Amino acid sequence: MDNRPIGIFDSGIGGTSIWGELQELLPYEDCIYLADSKNAPYGEKSKERILEFSIKNTEYLLALECKLIVVACNTATTNAIEYLRENYKIPFIGIEPAIKPAAINSKSKIIGVLATKGTLSSGLFHSTSKNHAAGITVLEQRGTGLVEMIEQGNLQSDELYALLAGYISPMLEKGMDYLVLGCTHYPY
Ligand code: DGL
Repeated sequence: MDNRPIGIFDSGIGGTSIWGELQELLPYEDCIYLADSKNAPYGEKSKERILEFSIKNTEYLLALECKLIVVACNTATTNAIEYLRENYKIPFIGIEPAIKPAAINSKSKIIGVLATKGTLSSGLFHSTSKNHAAGITVLEQRGTGLVEMIEQGNLQSDELYALLAGYISPMLEKGMDYLVLGCTHYPY
């Protein structure tokens, strides 16, 4: 038995979509959720800054004796998880855009990925696309502005719908039949 808590972090509320699943799967585990809203959005920052935030979050959760850390953020996973796994002794579980299931299920062979600039420009995103979407056209779209609105709880406004339509309609016109929500804020 290891009663120490599981640590979870994200740039804000996005990772609570992962936390909810975790609580259902592991109801007897204690969790500590760290929302680094002060530094959100991570997606528009440099790789160095994303790494810096991820290290700080890790140190904070380690000081609270977490036994493992869930990086509940695509941007932090794709830019920092390799470093974290190499430099800390505990296990890290991350999340990256679900390209593989989208590619397997797509009939049109055209899938879309809505994610942050930081995720779409990362090496891990490109290697996953290369390894799991051979023969598939992957349309990449940055979700600029979405995280800020979601952090403000602005989930129903005309402004948000207009932004989403501007991002998603062009991909639908190109024949996309699966859209990957490549940021933990986007399910909201
Ligand atoms: N929720 C995050 C992700 O999954 C980060 C969003 C952001 O801070 O830009 O990418």
